[in-house]
Amino acid sequence: MFLPIILILLSCHSCKGLLHPVNSGNIGVDDLYQMIQQQNKTIQQLLERDTKTVGFFARLTQRTPHLGVGQPIKFDTVITNEGNGYDPKQSRFIAPFTGLYQLSASVMSPTNAYVHCAIVKNGADVSPLYGATTDYDSDTQTIVLDLQAGDMVWVKHTGTTNEIIHNYNSYFSGFLIKQRL
Ligand SMILES: *[C@@H]1O[C@H](CO)[C@@H](O)[C@H](O)[C@H]1NC(C)=O
Repeated sequence: MFLPIILILLSCHSCKGLLHPVNSGNIGVDDLYQMIQQQNKTIQQLLERDTKTVGFFARLTQRTPHLGVGQPIKFDTVITNEGNGYDPKQSRFIAPFTGLYQLSASVMSPTNAYVHCAIVKNGADVSPLYGATTDYDSDTQTIVLDLQAGDMVWVKHTGTTNEIIHNYNSYFSGFLIKQRL
């Protein structure tokens, strides 16, 4: 007794959707499940994205009489380290998340000595810093970088071994502007 209804449904072109509501383009249940899982993952990531805070600020307070060539400048006194991006042992910022960051560094040379440094990303120079021999000269560079999680940024001495960095007024700071998925 249901046969006529089935036959009507099968012969009715616009009723095909009723029998195979999701079968346009061969999408199966497994595919749909995968899609839902993927969407769910994206939703979870989006919900978490704007909850991340990364910000650090460290000062140099110890006199470094002879800087080695390529030596990282040790900003030994950590004042802010939200998100633990700054590693005081290595004196490096290690991006905890992929995103856009602002970083800033200042170096001061003492009187009668100059100092050449650079902000480096994974070892490559990004922005030079130079303190001249005029009394307590200082230089500050503020940069914006796209970093992948795990990328490292630090301040490296790029001059000769005769150079000295003053033990005050040298800083390294940065913060996450916007995380990217
Ligand atoms: C979506 O992801 C959350 C967190 O992982 C989980 O608790 C939830 O059960 C998931 N929902 C579906 C429909 O898979």
